[in-house]
Formats: sequence, C-alpha cells, structure tokens
Amino acid sequence: MYRRYSVVSSLGEGGPRRPSRNWIVAGVLSLAFGAQTAAVQADDRDIALKLLGKHVFFDTSLSSSGEMGCVTCHTPETGGTGGDSNVNLTQVAITGADPATVGRRKPPSNTYASFVEPFLPCDLGGPNNPPGVEQYCGGNFWDGRALGRPNIEGFPGAAPHIGEEVFHDIENPVVLGYAKYIGATTDQAINPIPNTVEQNMPRDQVCLTVQSSDYAWLYELAWDTPLNCSNVIAYNGERHLDITFKRLMMSVGAYQHSKDINSFTSKRDLAIRAELACIDSDFRDYWNPSVCTDVQTLQASNPDKEYGKFPLVLFTDQENLGHDLFYNVDLPFSPRESRDDIPAAQCAFCHSDNPDTDDGSELLQTYMDQAYHNIGTPPNPEVPLNGGILDGGMSETTAIHRPGFFRTPTIRNIDKRPNRQFVKAYTHNGFFKSMKSIVHFYNTSQVKDRCEDVLPAETVLTEAVALANDCWPRADVPATQSPPFLVGALGMTDAQEDAIVAYLQTLTDLHSADEPELLKPQPSASASMFMDMRLYETICDLAEAEEEPVIPFRFPRGRSSCMSIDDAARRLDEDEWVSEE
Ligand code: HEC
Ligand code: HEC
Repeated sequence: MYRRYSVVSSLGEGGPRRPSRNWIVAGVLSLAFGAQTAAVQADDRDIALKLLGKHVFFDTSLSSSGEMGCVTCHTPETGGTGGDSNVNLTQVAITGADPATVGRRKPPSNTYASFVEPFLPCDLGGPNNPPGVEQYCGGNFWDGRALGRPNIEGFPGAAPHIGEEVFHDIENPVVLGYAKYIGATTDQAINPIPNTVEQNMPRDQVCLTVQSSDYAWLYELAWDTPLNCSNVIAYNGERHLDITFKRLMMSVGAYQHSKDINSFTSKRDLAIRAELACIDSDFRDYWNPSVCTDVQTLQASNPDKEYGKFPLVLFTDQENLGHDLFYNVDLPFSPRESRDDIPAAQCAFCHSDNPDTDDGSELLQTYMDQAYHNIGTPPNPEVPLNGGILDGGMSETTAIHRPGFFRTPTIRNIDKRPNRQFVKAYTHNGFFKSMKSIVHFYNTSQVKDRCEDVLPAETVLTEAVALANDCWPRADVPATQSPPFLVGALGMTDAQEDAIVAYLQTLTDLHSADEPELLKPQPSASASMFMDMRLYETICDLAEAEEEPVIPFRFPRGRSSCMSIDDAARRLDEDEWVSEE
C-alpha cells in the first residue's frame, strides 16, 4: 500500500559514514579545505538545513515564556512525547508557554512522523471502513489536519500548507531541491510556535529571535540568501518575514527526516541486522559470529528459519512470542496466514506499513498503516479541556463524518523513558498510563463490564478506577468503534499480554537526539568559537569560494580561514545523525 522511502538509504550500510567526531584528537584544524564535488556541496547545504531545524526544534527561547520549545512536548528521552512524568500521569496535555492555556491531546511521538504521506483518499476495505464511505490515509496530527498538500474542498480545519512560496527569489538548484521536504511534517511544524496554547510567539518575533541567535549563520548557509525579517510584501501577499518563518519551519521538517529523529536503532533493528550480517556484507558493521552460529543451530531444528526473519536469535522466547501474537491477524478478508495455536492479537492489521504482507522483519518498518480507526478509547476526564467532552478526531477538522477516528500512531519508542518510574500516557487523550493496561484493553474492552453499568453515576472514570473495578468505560464514540474480533475480545492469556508488552519494548531506539552545543548554557570550546566568530565575521561564502558553502573559522592564533559546513557540524558534535536520512 505504501512505500515511503524508495531506497533503503544508508541504513543497510550501517554505522556512521563519517570519521570520528573528536576533532581535537583527529587534528582536523590542519585539514585543507580543498575542492569538493557538487554532490558534497548538496550534502553540505542539506546538513546546514537540518542543523538549523535542529536548533529551532531545541530552542526554548522561541516561546513567550522563554522556556518552551518543540523539545518540551517531544522530548528525545521519552521517545518524542511529553517530557514530564507527572503531567503524563494527570492532565496529559501540556500547559502552554502562557500558563493559562492548555491543549487537549497527548503529544504523539514526532519520531517516524516524517514517514507519513500527505492526506489523500486510499482504499482499505475491512470492518473499520464501511463500503461507500470515502476513506483517507496520511497527514500529521492525530486527526491528519497537517495535510502535507494544498487544502482541498471540505477540509475546513486543515492546517496551513508550506509550498513552493519558500523558493521565492531562490535560484540555487540545491536549495530548490528542498522541495522533497514539502509534506505533512513540514506543514505540521508551522503550527506550534505561533499557537497561543503552545509556544505562543508570533512569526515576526520568531524571525527576530533566530536572527539574533548564535545559530543564525546556519540560515544563510542553508537557504543561500540572507535572513530577512522585514514587513514588506515579498510574494503573493506574504511578507518577507512570513517566507523566512516558513523556511525556518521547513528546516524543522527537514530535521525531522534525519536519522537523529528516526534512528532505527532499537533492539529489534539491531537483532535483524546482526542476522543479515551473516549473509550480506552490507551489514558487516553488525557482524557477530555467535549470532551466525546460533542461527545455524536453530536452522537444524527449524528448517523454515531464515536469516533476519523471526524468530530472532537475539530475542528472548517471550519477545518472539509477542511478535507472533502481534502479527497474528486472522480476518476473513485478509490474505495473511495466521498461526492457529495462539490467539490473533490483530495488531499488525493497523500497526504495519503493509498490513497484508509485512511479517515484521522489514528494515524500515514504522508500525502504522497511516489510516484512521476508532479503537474505542474512553474519554479521559483528567484532560482539562476535554473532561467528558467528545474529541471528534478526524471529523472535527475534515468534513468527513468519522467521529472517534484517529490516525494509527507509530509504536516505535512506545516504551522509551528516562527511567522505569517515569510514566507515559497512551492514545490521543492519554487515558492509558501503562503498556500492560492498553494491551489489556485491546484484549478485553468489549468483554468486561461497562464501568458505567457497575459503578455509581458520579464516579470519575479514570484508568486507575477502571483497573481497580475490573471494568472499562464506554468508548468516547461507541457507534463507530472497531468490531470485537478486531479490538476488544481477543482471548489472550495474561502471559500473552505480557509477551506483547515485551515485544513492544524491543522497539525503543538506543539513540536519542542531544541538545545542540550552541544552545547549551555552557557550550563546548569549539562551539564557543562559533559564537564569538558570529560577532566579527561575515560568512565567507559564495563570493570567495563558489565551489562549496563555507563558514569563516578563526584559528586559535588569529589566522582566519573557511571551513565546510560538514566540518563545522563535526566540530559541533553533530555529524552523522543529523546528516543522514
Ligand atoms: C505544548 C506542547 C507542544 C509543543 C510545544 C509542540 N508540540 Fe508537537 N504536538 C503536540 C500535540 C498535543 C500534538 C497532537 C495535536 C493534535 O493532534 O491535535 C502534536 C503533534 C505533533 C506532530 C504530529 C505527529 C504525528 O504523528 O502526526 C509532530 C511531528 C510535532 N507535533 C512536532 C512538533 C514540532 C516540530 C514542534 C515545534 C515547532 C512542536 N511539535 C511543538 C504538542 C506540542
Ligand atoms: C483497528 C486498528 C488497530 C488495531 C487492530 C490495533 N491498534 Fe493500536 N492504535 C490504533 C489507533 C487508531 C490508535 C490511536 C487511538 C486513539 O488515540 O484513540 C492506537 C494506539 C495504540 C497505542 C498508543 C500509541 C500512542 O502513541 O499513544 C499502542 C501502544 C497500541 N495502539 C498498540 C497496539 C497493540 C499492541 C495492538 C494489538 C493488541 C493494537 N495496537 C491493535 C489502531 C489499532
């Protein structure tokens, strides 16, 4: 159905492409900044673009309080969702930079969100999607309103779109190539900073704040044009500052396409690559002779076992069982083969790129069909704006009548947390506070008593109350929820629920994006040099050295020279993660 990245990119090669990050040891100060190829130039600008986006993403000064950035609600250590355990446990929605405001939904992970296609009609079939009703897939946000394409009739709630206007007055072909970042995740980025319930900073101030920041030089390198915050109309009714703002947000969108956000470094990814390394030199960085021996041993008793396919030898039996349950999809219209010795947990019917064919060993699996479903999530009375009020999901922002439908989120990084005590919240309203609880819900939500039927009318129906009373509250929108054989009556044992949890825990990326040096209160020595440099040097860019985008660099003893952005990125400790897709 979907194939997002057409190439298996550099993942297959594994590991960092670039040399060591340690610039002092490597003695890179003595490098000659010589001729580079056109390909390197394109790479260089692209790195500048993503580095710029990364700084905007982490910059908490881009808010009315001076304390809120994208990173506040999409914290790398929690897998790209809310960074405050207590908020996740209670109100779920994160109070805005203006403390009188709060949203109403849980931040979905921003990891792997850039794999989501533009919001478009799609053909799914199946019990969630009755015939004759137009079906849609894609788009960012729980309801898809960041369409990733120009608005179409019937979508009153669509978010603004970032399109070709960002290329106004730009001729550099490398910069024009950023058109590949037009899409849902770039559209999404335009919303949070000016949003009064989020960062609450108007566009002109965003522009001026970036202009006076220590990382402003990245803008000119990335866009090959000066950063312009003027009020003068530039193009098609938009002011220069609007175009600049959109370019900044496209940079954030580009950053979210990088490996720094989508690293594919979970136990599951590494376990698959370690087996593939036994038979494919592309994966040699993951080669581990004992894994190859173990696969051969397993093959002796299980002739169906293939390298890189389940069961994985680096997984525990419980994790492998969890995988089998997750991928056990037993539906009359599905061509998948189902194991009949264990229940069908049906998860892969929705949490899979290609639900009909995937077996879970795909290198770039994102665990989402990009379609909209109503799993019957109960209302969460603790969400301030929501307390009992219906969240209409996709039907609120589009004219399509699908109340209670939300886009299937990725479940990569679902268990990523800074420590075991840290609480995360699950689903759009964060009703569920543990993985065991949401899996138990999938297993039993349409079997157990309705809490409304067994508890006094005034009871506040939180997850804790439901678990204590062995009941589930009525779905927010009962009329459209998935049928019980798909969600809610799966017939799993307690141990099988635990196995699914164990499998979900293998999807935690080992890599987490780090705060950029230039934003730290005490930046490293090399970062400080960049900050000083900004004060007295202009970019020794294209006039002098037309071959490559370069920045001035003042050597410790006062000699000045230029260096490529690739080298600069390395000195800022930002090499392979930000540059690779
Ligand atoms: C105050 C908290 C907050 C801040 C700040 C914030 N977000 Fe979000 N983010 C959310 C919430 C809540 C949602 C879901 C909103 C909805 O669906 O209506 C969301 C949705 C998203 C999504 C969609 C993911 C998906 O699967 O569709 C992405 C990507 C994202 N945010 C990135 C960003 C970026 C980039 C920034 C900074 C420019 C940012 N966010 C700032 C709370 C926040
Ligand atoms: C019918 C499609 C469908 C099936 C089947 C399904 N899911 Fe989901 N899943 C969704 C949707 C849609 C959401 C978001 C629901 C919401 O926000 O109300 C979701 C949310 C989740 C979340 C929370 C994600 C987050 O970021 O908060 C987890 C975890 C999850 N599912 C795991 C599973 C597991 C495990 C199974 C199998 C037992 C499963 N799902 C089966 C569609 C499905």
